[in-house]
Amino acid sequence: MKSEKLHIVPHDYRINREVRAKALNQSPRLIWFTGLSGSGKSTLANALETEMYNRGLSTYLLDGDNVRTGLNSDLDFSEKSRVENIRRIGEVANLMLDAGLIVLSAFVSPFEADRKLVCEKVGSENYFEIFVNTSLEECERRDTKGLYAKARAGEISNFTGISSPFEAPTNPDLEIDTEKVSVEEAVQLIINKLNIK
Ligand code: ADX
Repeated sequence: MKSEKLHIVPHDYRINREVRAKALNQSPRLIWFTGLSGSGKSTLANALETEMYNRGLSTYLLDGDNVRTGLNSDLDFSEKSRVENIRRIGEVANLMLDAGLIVLSAFVSPFEADRKLVCEKVGSENYFEIFVNTSLEECERRDTKGLYAKARAGEISNFTGISSPFEAPTNPDLEIDTEKVSVEEAVQLIINKLNIK
């Protein structure tokens, strides 16, 4: 339901995003990793966050498998739930940007329209999209969680890449092929592209 219908009138905060960002001496932004399950999103996001932490930046990492055990534990992998999953993450990320943080997120986020909504929510100037472009064949070969085997055996339905679509980003800020670059090289690429000192 739209907020006008509920007679909700948001307040302006005196301590707002600009003030908090200045206090933290950083530019809040959302670094959005998208790609198939097992593509390496979480690994890259973790390595990037470690590098940022070591440089004194204040960060927070939102990860699909983790958020789905808490805030989004009521959601499954139907299309409707995936849309809601990403919508909520967009809202949470936006609050965290208001808090002045640099937010990293690792979600399959298979639908272009949902990623676009997140980008619009946080503002395109604050949104940095990284397509972790690891081929389905490679993700399936790695099968670190054993989920592809289960999906192929029909034990998991709506599995991205097998029985549910993945819409590859058409214009990501960065594309990383984990079959060609190491984690360390990828982190360096991201740091350079983001112009982080
Ligand atoms: S998203 O599609 O809604 O963005 P999200 O990133 O939160 O997905 O969660 C994906 C993770 O859930 C995968 O890394 C995998 O471990 C697990 N998973 C369980 N079932 C599925 C499924 N049907 N499709 C994709 N991932 C699944």
